[in-house]
Amino acid sequence: MPPRIPATARAETRLRFVSVALGATLVLAAATSTHGAPAETGRAIITIDASRPGPAVNPRMYGVFLEEINHSVDGGLYGELVRNRGFEDSREPEGYVHAHGRWENRAGFPAGFERFGYRTDGVPFWTLLCEGSARGAMHLEKTGGLTPESAYCLRIDAEAVDAGGRLAVANEGFFGIGAKAGARYHLSLTARATAPFAGPLRVRLENAQGVPCSDEITLSGIGADWTRLSGVLTASATDPKTRLVVSVGAAGTVWLDFVSLFPERTWKDRPNGQRADLAQLIADLRPGFVRFPGGCVVEAGSLETAYDWKLTVGPVESRAERWGPWSQRRTQGMGLLEYLRFCEDLGAEPLYVGFAGQTCIFRAREHIPMEDMPAIRDNLLDAVEFANGAPDTRWGALRAKAGRAEPFDLKLLEIGNENQGPEFGRRYRFIQEAVAARFPKITTIADLSFTSRESLGGAHFDIEDQHYYNSPRWFASGFRMFDGRDRALPPLYLGEVASTTGEAGPTRGNLRAALSESVFLLGCERNADVVRMVSYAPLLGHVEGRTELPEAPPPWHAMIYFDGTRAYGTASYQAWKMLGTNRPDRVLRSDLAFPDAAPFAVRGEIGLGTWADSAEFKDVRVERDGQVVYQSDFARGTEGWRPASGRWSVVDGAYRQSRPGQGFAYFGDPSWQDYTLTLRARHLKGPEGFLVVFGRQDKSRLWWNLGGWGNSQHAVEQNQTVLGAPARGRLESERWYDVKVEVRGARVRCFLDGALVHETEAAREETFFTVAGRDEATGEIVLKAVNLAAAPVSAELRLPGLTFSAGRELVLTSRSLDDNNRLDAPLAVSPTERAFPAAGERLAHDFPPRSLTVLRLTEKSSPPAR
Ligand code: AHR
Repeated sequence: MPPRIPATARAETRLRFVSVALGATLVLAAATSTHGAPAETGRAIITIDASRPGPAVNPRMYGVFLEEINHSVDGGLYGELVRNRGFEDSREPEGYVHAHGRWENRAGFPAGFERFGYRTDGVPFWTLLCEGSARGAMHLEKTGGLTPESAYCLRIDAEAVDAGGRLAVANEGFFGIGAKAGARYHLSLTARATAPFAGPLRVRLENAQGVPCSDEITLSGIGADWTRLSGVLTASATDPKTRLVVSVGAAGTVWLDFVSLFPERTWKDRPNGQRADLAQLIADLRPGFVRFPGGCVVEAGSLETAYDWKLTVGPVESRAERWGPWSQRRTQGMGLLEYLRFCEDLGAEPLYVGFAGQTCIFRAREHIPMEDMPAIRDNLLDAVEFANGAPDTRWGALRAKAGRAEPFDLKLLEIGNENQGPEFGRRYRFIQEAVAARFPKITTIADLSFTSRESLGGAHFDIEDQHYYNSPRWFASGFRMFDGRDRALPPLYLGEVASTTGEAGPTRGNLRAALSESVFLLGCERNADVVRMVSYAPLLGHVEGRTELPEAPPPWHAMIYFDGTRAYGTASYQAWKMLGTNRPDRVLRSDLAFPDAAPFAVRGEIGLGTWADSAEFKDVRVERDGQVVYQSDFARGTEGWRPASGRWSVVDGAYRQSRPGQGFAYFGDPSWQDYTLTLRARHLKGPEGFLVVFGRQDKSRLWWNLGGWGNSQHAVEQNQTVLGAPARGRLESERWYDVKVEVRGARVRCFLDGALVHETEAAREETFFTVAGRDEATGEIVLKAVNLAAAPVSAELRLPGLTFSAGRELVLTSRSLDDNNRLDAPLAVSPTERAFPAAGERLAHDFPPRSLTVLRLTEKSSPPAR
């Protein structure tokens, strides 16, 4: 069966859908209904057995993935405020050609060049201001710039400049230049002029109406050679959208290059460093590692733009810019050294991802020929030497020259990102063997999100990376996803994890997404022996700079959003922060029981459906206790049937869904239970078969999927999670089949043409999840719980053998699952904290509706909590 979520072709390929046979399944939608809510389950008993330690949790389990996407680095984390500072933005995207009215890679995949105002025939992001009596022009010159790498520069011809006018150039920054009243900004630019022009240039920040937002500095002393001029601007207003205006004080010709404006206070006061508020939001996650620089940035959309760290080191004006895969030119201002320093300042392990010789599989991949792979391999080895080599090694010396003699001790190296196929396998192996021989202590990571283990042809990897972009519903059913992982396989790094579908809200990351991802992460923690590392993706996004894969909406989301002056973390950010900063050192065995729960029974309406096809149905009959509750006669009408999607009509006495694709029609009563549904069905057109729905209530339903998975198997699914074992089988088109579904309590039996195909058991939808552990430094027991239901869960915590003296509770919740944070309400969905008395071995605790809770319990004898 194809992916469950109707999506673009791109999204279909990238989303991973894993159907796991679970003893219980979950529907997040239940959180808005009463179905499956605690009224049916009653009180919970959580027993934590501290004498039965589970797996140790990697101290660096929770990390971040930092990639140049959504204007996250240039225009975001990297402190530079001027856009197109080196005037290189009108360069053609390297390795792309202009065809069909756009820039495309050699295989015809668009570069996304036009998306944010790039053009090759002007000076993007700079405007000439010719006000009053002033006369003049600006031109891009493609030679003569400050360095060979920054060869383009701006020429300004000032013909008339007098008291009645102003001739100036203005830079709009990245969707505006953020100014904060009272903050100081370092301005520097290089200029040269033809005599007799000697300046001055006047520089200040202004708002869109031309009102000054800073003081003005005057720069003079401009000669025939490039001269660096600098000064400090102090902002007089807070405005996320100012512009930097450079006015020419006299007639003549002047050239500008490398115009830069940097906040004086970067994070940790690093020169060429990071925007402080964004870096702090990342630091507040206390990440154990930082994966960088991509993602697709590493692989790129053309061989010429694949990430080459050597272009990212040395003086910033000598770093050759490259077109990035996310509709943005990369200045390389935040280069390898800056990334490594940032990791160190965060106290996080760097995880460097290197190019593996295959460009992005979603952008019509290209390969470096095997005979040219030694250069790619060596470049990666050189990157490790740059990070780790002594100052007397070739690349260690370059690092030392840049001001950092001490090696960084890079330990984690990922070879490639989201690559695919045996071509990748060969290249991976070629690089990995060299890395292992030269740097035996390096941990190598292989991304198997879109390729098989077999495709690596036996090549070694220490950790397997997997990426999961999916719906909140999918994450909420992932609590047990790793329970069955073969422990003999290499452990996992889940490098890119996020709810990406519409239910996660327009910017993604709403409370629904946060809680669903939390269920999944609790599942990772309880399997901490196999899930060693996790990171959300993407991390950062400018509210106006969300990028996308050309021709494949929706735009990328982020965990931290910002504009020029403000920033906030989504509800997902808050949840990941709570989980990551309350990581236990060891999982403790715990049991969750609902002793008063009523026995579960499948209950609800029936329905007919298709996934990707057209099909028709007749002789639908429902019997209960030997009584016929319903018998269709479609020739006479379809009264009581409620089509929900597709195109339904009666053709020759059969009820037909005639639009190939998803189509559902429902009938009956949500209270129906213990019934036998029989019908005749035939497939008409399409790659699969048909679906027979039963037990439908609210958004929850079961179906028998006949001819699913590309017409290769049949399976019973509860909310799209397979129950029991699927059965191999295919349906013939145009043939009538006899279908029978028998529901007794929770038991389901399915017959095709009289033969029993499945016998399985449905289970109550889980809406409450817990995982327990111990923080060894403080001795505290840490209990994490997610309650997805609309009602609180009253629980009794049993901690045999332990006596408690104090407790702390952190709770993330909100009125609606749709709630999220915003620029103007950055903490609308954020945790509240409270201390509570705890004494003895048992505690009564209520877990609020729609919530993530972290409880920290201090044992009587253990040291006081942090
Ligand atoms: O996180 C955004 C992108 O998604 C990454 O660049 C890539 O690895 C994945 O396809």
